[in-house]
Amino acid sequence: MKPRRVEDRQDHYYWKAKKEGYRSRAAFKLKQMNKKFGLIKKGYWVLDLGASPGGWSQVAVELGANVVAVDLNPMSSIDDVHFIQGDITSQDTWKRISEVKGKFDVVISDASPKITGKWDIDHFRSVELVESAFQIARAFLKPGGNFVVKMFQGEETPRLYSEFKKHFVFKKLHSPPASRKRSSEIYFIGKGFGGKFKPKREED
Ligand SMILES: C[S@@+](CC[C@H](N)C(=O)[O-])C[C@H]1O[C@@H](n2cnc3c(N)ncnc32)[C@H](O)[C@@H]1O
Repeated sequence: MKPRRVEDRQDHYYWKAKKEGYRSRAAFKLKQMNKKFGLIKKGYWVLDLGASPGGWSQVAVELGANVVAVDLNPMSSIDDVHFIQGDITSQDTWKRISEVKGKFDVVISDASPKITGKWDIDHFRSVELVESAFQIARAFLKPGGNFVVKMFQGEETPRLYSEFKKHFVFKKLHSPPASRKRSSEIYFIGKGFGGKFKPKREED
């Protein structure tokens, strides 16, 4: 990781990621959300959407998960991560995911359009990614599974969140401390897909 922007040079999580060997400062967002909500556990299968350069996949592997990661961009390899280069909005990519693994305990999506800093443009560009991540979660999550998806906030957020809420027992809109203060990003957190939590024994 090289500091690309002035703000990176001043950013606590940028330097922390560099020091601790994470590929992105985003790794800390997943670590913080996992600590707070208990999303990923040892032995789980995790589907990581918009995964490159791989910070979230690194965290999921550290937690003991098996990971299938998808991104438009290439990603250098990580042990225990099966990487698919593809577009999450394309059914061809969904087919390639299903050829690796049919059902997952957790789906996480940090997929993001190229950020312009203009809230409304970033918002509308993120809507299709959020909708695709939902569709993938509905097709690939095991009953009781967990889901995290990033969205850039805007007028479509309430509609998507109310649709999302129907499918999970526990649901929350959350902004982890590692999100940049001026960012419009927000994470939808869902646990207990299909109306029930995972049995306790499976979570141990
Ligand atoms: C913020 S980065 C993800 C960072 C990652 N979570 C990490 O910790 O390293 C967002 C990623 O979403 C990917 N992306 C954007 N649109 C996509 C799409 N349609 N299909 C797959 N990946 C996409 C981008 O290529 C980019 O790598």
